[in-house]
Amino acid sequence: MLNGKRVLLVISGGIAAYKSLELIRRLRERGAAVRCILTKGGAEFVTPLSVAALSEEKVFMELFSLTDESEMGHIRLSREADLVVVAPASASILARMAQGIADDLATTALLATDKPVLVVPAMNLMMWAHPATQANIATLERRGVARVGPGSGDLACGEVGAGRMAEPMEILAAIEEHFIERTSLTGLRALVTSGPTHEPIDPVRFIANRSSGRQGHAIAAALARRGADTLLVSGPSAEPDPAGVEVRRIETAEEMLAACRGALPVDVAVCAAAVGDWRVATPAGQKLKKDGGAPPQLTLTANPDILASLAEAGNQRPRLVVGFAAETENVIENATAKRAAKGCDWILANDVSPGTGTFGGGENTVHLVSAGGVESWPTQAKQAVADRLAERIARHLIAAQPAAAS
Ligand code: CTP
Repeated sequence: MLNGKRVLLVISGGIAAYKSLELIRRLRERGAAVRCILTKGGAEFVTPLSVAALSEEKVFMELFSLTDESEMGHIRLSREADLVVVAPASASILARMAQGIADDLATTALLATDKPVLVVPAMNLMMWAHPATQANIATLERRGVARVGPGSGDLACGEVGAGRMAEPMEILAAIEEHFIERTSLTGLRALVTSGPTHEPIDPVRFIANRSSGRQGHAIAAALARRGADTLLVSGPSAEPDPAGVEVRRIETAEEMLAACRGALPVDVAVCAAAVGDWRVATPAGQKLKKDGGAPPQLTLTANPDILASLAEAGNQRPRLVVGFAAETENVIENATAKRAAKGCDWILANDVSPGTGTFGGGENTVHLVSAGGVESWPTQAKQAVADRLAERIARHLIAAQPAAAS
């Protein structure tokens, strides 16, 4: 199953580090090559000798070791892997990863890597629940870092609660899942729109909306993780560029449309942007002044509908066109009507009423409206919504793949 896959395993400090020895065995059994970095803390719990014996590889420990660096520099170490797994991931290593601190071999390799990273947190329940740890995990997940656990139960410190490192078989399942995911959209092209648009009034003022870009960015990241060649066309958003995604930043709806049309042909388009419906017909060339007179009267004109335009792109129409419907009432009825009006295949309807916290928040409650009916998904993190959607897209496109000529 994992034949030929190369895993870089970072073992940081924690009583649960013994589980990583079992993980190495299981990975090796399945044909993976495992190279390990053992942190100073990790070496307090498992010995370099046992790690080396199980992995059948040299164990890397020192950043400034002349022998380590001459045999295998830390940059090469971080790049010559298909996946980097941090298990156990202590509160400290998660904090340093989130901050970009590189003060030992493990954190330097983690900062230098361009490969996907999976963390397996293990710590005391109060440390796990601490807002600092939760903020660090949220930051890492936003950047595309995957996570397994922690589970709940008896902790080594004698307390009971969340913080227990996931079991080796659970971690193994996540690693196998990861490698399955990465092939499912390989060879296909995806286009995603995200964020708000800014429609200028004059050189300093604009009309915008509350979209954060989180959902669209997460979708682009999830599609890229599954191997799709992904272009993200994003309006102004504070979200960092997702790993492995080509990003084109634009400001206005018209710029977004031009970037999307220029990206065709693609296999799938997901329009998650909250595109401004109107723009000022003639933005002022200079800053509008009060000059003691009446406030300016803005004449608005309709913006192009990017989703509808992609859905009616003739022979350039993506095989699957997916839109969102941001609604504050009659969510499913309005979304169903929107799907028909815009000619897209699927609509993800979401309630963006102020009380739901969807706009700008971390979670989303969506209903997938398709020709087959309505499917309601539970409220979940925007990353989880993105993953589920990417999975559905992969299944749909693979099922619809024209049969290879014999
Ligand atoms: N959309 C688009 N271009 C626009 C407006 C919307 O591509 N000019 C896309 C959005 O990205 C989303 C879908 O259309 O996928 C629906 O957006 P939404 O804001 O819910 O609907 P609107 O078309 O703006 O309709 P209304 O504001 O009347 O609800």
